[in-house]
Amino acid sequence: MKATKPPKTDSHDLRKLQGSSDLEDTAVFEISQELRQLLADVFVLYMKTKNFHWHMSGRHFRDYHLLLDEQAEQLFGMTDEIAERTRKIGGTTLRSIGDIARNQRLQDNDEWSVPPTDILTVLLDDNRQLTRSLRLAHELCDQHGDVATASLIENWIDQTERRSWFLSETSRDG
Ligand SMILES: [Fe+2]
Repeated sequence: MKATKPPKTDSHDLRKLQGSSDLEDTAVFEISQELRQLLADVFVLYMKTKNFHWHMSGRHFRDYHLLLDEQAEQLFGMTDEIAERTRKIGGTTLRSIGDIARNQRLQDNDEWSVPPTDILTVLLDDNRQLTRSLRLAHELCDQHGDVATASLIENWIDQTERRSWFLSETSRDG
């Protein structure tokens, strides 16, 4: 859900870095808010992918274990880019695990045991949902003329679609 104005109790406020961006305050607020939720989702998906990497079992263990580690590494790489992009436009970003929990839209998975085929399906659904969120964030950047954030988002969409592709094709032989 997109907030239209800064909540009073939110520590993420509109104090901009002096002269760090020519974007309007509203643009900085809205794009930062969007990036904060994206960052929370990417951290959730990173943890979830690692969780499944660690708890994987079965006859495809080695392949799936390695695939998920590769995907987790890519997700972790996204986190710094998202956070620093927010700072570049003069916004603020996540500060804690609690902050992730308050902003995440993707759901955690705390199941004791998840069958390998379900793992692939769950991660595929999450990556597809992340793609949709990235597309919406891209539209917001377009509205405000933030071409640089939009450009980064295009790369993140491509990476996310690549993860979805691998998960989708791999799940076929489950
Ligand atoms: Fe590992």
